[in-house]
Amino acid sequence: MEIKVAKNAGYCFGVKRAIEMVEETLKNYEGNRVYSLGEIIHNPQVVERLKRRGLIVVRDIEDVEENSTVIISAHGRSEEDIARLKKKGCKIVNATCPYVRLPQSIIKKMSSEGYLVILLGDREHPEVKGLVSFANGENIRVVNTNEDFSGLEADKVAVLAQTTQNREDFNLLINSLLGKFKEIRVFDTICDATKIRQEEAIKLAQEVDLMIVIGGRNSANTKRLYELSTRYCKRVLHIETEKEIDRSIISGAERIGITAGASTPNDIIKAVVERIRC
Ligand code: F3S
Repeated sequence: MEIKVAKNAGYCFGVKRAIEMVEETLKNYEGNRVYSLGEIIHNPQVVERLKRRGLIVVRDIEDVEENSTVIISAHGRSEEDIARLKKKGCKIVNATCPYVRLPQSIIKKMSSEGYLVILLGDREHPEVKGLVSFANGENIRVVNTNEDFSGLEADKVAVLAQTTQNREDFNLLINSLLGKFKEIRVFDTICDATKIRQEEAIKLAQEVDLMIVIGGRNSANTKRLYELSTRYCKRVLHIETEKEIDRSIISGAERIGITAGASTPNDIIKAVVERIRC
């Protein structure tokens, strides 16, 4: 049996940076409470490890103690939320990925210049919720590729994507908009880490007879790797850890491809490979 692991499977720059910021903050917290609003990254195993070291994960700002330290996740947060935390006297450690800051500033600028922002993304994802808050007034629509634009009244639109969207869908969206507006400005905001992982997954999925995608079930970029792989390979599995691998799952596969979302640590990838080998 041949096992091929995608070269860039696992942690991206933004996730590594966010985890280092949490670890550094926990090291120096001196009794002060350290919170993260929502999960710092979308990987339950990593979040559990950080909780054991003292990180407190809460959903709402109301649950954050006054004058404590709050880490903003790699997905970013709305400006209003950050202002509310500051009002509570909290120290902010902002781990928003620089690749998320880019669409935040584009949305702010284009919507204030009167463009209707069309954002390809998942409405419920924290990154998208944060991005929407950067728009001026109502000048933003979160869409998917099957959106009907017939009732949309706008002369000029700015089109961009959640950083972890898949490229094929973004291209489809752009094509569906052509000819419908007087002016269309397109900003390629899919991050490099996503692009590289998706390209590798597409290539690998065509070379193997079983593809395994490792990552949190709540991780948007892992879900996209899974969806893309299913377009090119008949057998694709999405797992979080090696515990989900058993003989029946891999039986009959001669070439197995492995990739992992940007928030999957190396030790989990290694454990999956070892489990398949033994
Ligand atoms: Fe940042 Fe892209 Fe990773 S947005 S957190 S580098 S997946």
